[in-house]
Amino acid sequence: MFDIKKEKWEESYKRNENFIYFPKEESVKFLNRFIKKKISLMEYVDLLESKQKLKALDFGCGIGRMTVLLHEFDIEGYGIDISQTAINEAKKFARHFNFDLKNNFQAYNGENIPFEDNYFDFTISEAVLDSLPFELAKKLIKEIERVTKRYFFLSLISSESAASFSTLKESGKFNGEIEVDEAHEQGTIQSFFDKEKIAEFIKDTQFKIKWCELHTTQECNDTYAHSRYYIVLEK
Ligand SMILES: C[S@@+](CC[C@H](N)C(=O)[O-])C[C@H]1O[C@@H](n2cnc3c(N)ncnc32)[C@H](O)[C@@H]1O
Repeated sequence: MFDIKKEKWEESYKRNENFIYFPKEESVKFLNRFIKKKISLMEYVDLLESKQKLKALDFGCGIGRMTVLLHEFDIEGYGIDISQTAINEAKKFARHFNFDLKNNFQAYNGENIPFEDNYFDFTISEAVLDSLPFELAKKLIKEIERVTKRYFFLSLISSESAASFSTLKESGKFNGEIEVDEAHEQGTIQSFFDKEKIAEFIKDTQFKIKWCELHTTQECNDTYAHSRYYIVLEK
């Protein structure tokens, strides 16, 4: 049994944190490069073949910004998260865009993904597996492997971002994990990644790295850098 910090995430969502209603540009790029290329307002070229409508999991969906994006691409998207508050907001958010997704979002126990093997053509997960103890993240990537047929697109915070966290200001690069001390997401876990840790993370799965970029945003006066890996894994 892991400490999944459910209460800390509920408190964070009750403070309206992570109420972000726009998808990340990198997720749009992933869909366009690997899944479906949008070529006009209503037309796509299929890159990932499927006899039926594509199904995808948004793992740790929060308020569902990526799940809604999947439906905009005419993909049957499902979102799961440990926070019931986030899931309630996700259902409202989808309704606002005239998608009836009340049966596509669910809160779950944080360890066992409630879908059968190979249910999804692909899975996406933005800023989730780095918000958990590494040992739990390693268990969950096995679960993601179980429910996913082909691609897993994820983002992970890089060890170069460590200096923007107050407890690590002096230490520069750091690839361990901390309990977050800042007001935002206070009491949750942040786990920092470098290339070696990514290799360790995927080594017991069938996933191989298909594509990986490190995106860094540097504050102009050099006081902080935020840096994330965007990774496409393939089975
Ligand atoms: C930084 S937020 C990102 C939310 C969303 N992916 C987005 O980009 O808007 C991290 C999310 O991970 C969820 N989470 C934390 N532990 C989890 C677990 N064990 N399984 C699934 N989701 C979890 C949190 O509730 C939160 O919604």
